[in-house]
Amino acid sequence: MNMIDLIKSRRNIKNFKTDQVDETMIKIWLDAAAMAPNHRMTEPWEIYFIGPETRGTLNHKTNFGNAPTLMAVLSKHGASKVETEENAAATACFIQNFNLAAWSEGVGTFWSSIGITEQKRALLNVPDNYDLLGVLAVGYPEMIPDPKPRTPIENKIKYLP
Ligand SMILES: Cc1cc2nc3c(=O)[nH]c(=O)nc-3n(C[C@H](O)[C@H](O)[C@H](O)COP(=O)(O)O)c2cc1C
Repeated sequence: MNMIDLIKSRRNIKNFKTDQVDETMIKIWLDAAAMAPNHRMTEPWEIYFIGPETRGTLNHKTNFGNAPTLMAVLSKHGASKVETEENAAATACFIQNFNLAAWSEGVGTFWSSIGITEQKRALLNVPDNYDLLGVLAVGYPEMIPDPKPRTPIENKIKYLP
């Protein structure tokens, strides 16, 4: 599949098969994801694999679509507000790299913000100097939804003088 088709075919998956995803493959996708652009090479991302005990405490309404693998993705704060924002942008690039690498092998992801509250941060042991960018559920899709239409890109473009 070429890159455009890969990007356009990806979906946020909400129902997964229970089949395990090979951890070696997940590590390969994470390793590729880490090639994300990041200002000053801060590499701000951290990945916490969420075990069954912690998962239970999250009390998610669909149990993350029964995905077999769950990871929290954190982004380290910078020395200033701008650096913290840049780090979060880099970590979002990291997540999308991961999503696309997994998708290229038929594995789907569900990016959930899980309502990022202090309580959720505590359950996931997120240190004070990290943002919680979300929880990624990873697994083989049970169902692939139709694409959600996007605004024509021409409507999003401005030309500055
Ligand atoms: C930062 C972020 C947080 C998200 N949190 C949630 C969420 O909590 N629940 C959810 O159903 N989808 C969540 N999504 C996924 C979006 O809802 C989804 O990408 C959007 O509906 C478009 O669907 P698509 O990715 O299949 O094209 C999140 C996406 C991002 C980027």
